[in-house]
Amino acid sequence: MSEKMETEANVSNGSGTGYEKEESNLSPEDLSEMLAAGTKEVHEKAENTQFVKDFLRGRIRKELFKLGAVALYHTYTAMEEEIERNKDHPQFAPLYFPAELHRHEALARDLEYFYGPDWKSKISCSQATQHYVDRIHQVGQEDPVLLVAHAYTRYMGDLSGGQVLRKVAQRALKLPPTGEGLEFYQFDAIHSAKAFKQLYRSRMNELELDMAAKRKLVAEAVKAFHFNMEVFEELEEIGKTIQEDVQDAGMSVHGEMGGDISK
Ligand code: HEM
Repeated sequence: MSEKMETEANVSNGSGTGYEKEESNLSPEDLSEMLAAGTKEVHEKAENTQFVKDFLRGRIRKELFKLGAVALYHTYTAMEEEIERNKDHPQFAPLYFPAELHRHEALARDLEYFYGPDWKSKISCSQATQHYVDRIHQVGQEDPVLLVAHAYTRYMGDLSGGQVLRKVAQRALKLPPTGEGLEFYQFDAIHSAKAFKQLYRSRMNELELDMAAKRKLVAEAVKAFHFNMEVFEELEEIGKTIQEDVQDAGMSVHGEMGGDISK
């Protein structure tokens, strides 16, 4: 009961009161600190992928953004399916926040906005996304503790950069300010991302895990970052073909001449 009260208080109260104390008590052996330190380098790499850099600069075309949403849909569908399967697992249960975090429904609505009512028949799972999805299912079924790493990598990331990305995408793609197509970035049940992240960290730190298990989790989180980067790199490659199509459509004669001269 007290746990539930703690959740409600912290989720709905954006003041952050009470968290400073927990934060100052953190030790480098706490899972939240090990995850933050252990993924620092790969986080920097992820920030520096071309796709992410372009996105941040508002250089994102709608077709590519839509494919990004498709990749996220498959990823979160797999992750939340495995979370539901393991919601009572003692080493995941304290991190079960479906109302606050789960993105499956939001992404389904975004895809319906972009692709229309028969969106499901218009999308498919890309190769890089399938690798990520396969790993999530494997972990959920064979070693559920590792789900913590996947949930951490996505949800903490979404809560950290989501609002900036939403604004960038809305402007660049001229999407309605009312939020259609961008529901993924909107966490309606979280009033303070900062406070929620603190709660999530303290819940991670309360999981009963020995040092070996924590190290395994950090390694899995690094893997999760790599799966994300592979999806970004794949999108980047697809982006090049979309760009070529556009150029070809507009300048087919120059395109052919350029090809002859250079080869
Ligand atoms: C945290 C920025 C991309 C996952 C953060 C924080 C910032 C940030 C400023 C710290 C927030 C805080 O301490 O409250 C960015 C920027 C990105 C980017 C500018 C792209 C240019 C990504 C990607 C992922 C990711 C691609 C993974 C898919 C995370 C995670 C955290 C985080 C898991 C939580 C770290 C922790 O406190 O343990 N990000 N991020 N980020 N980000 Fe990113």
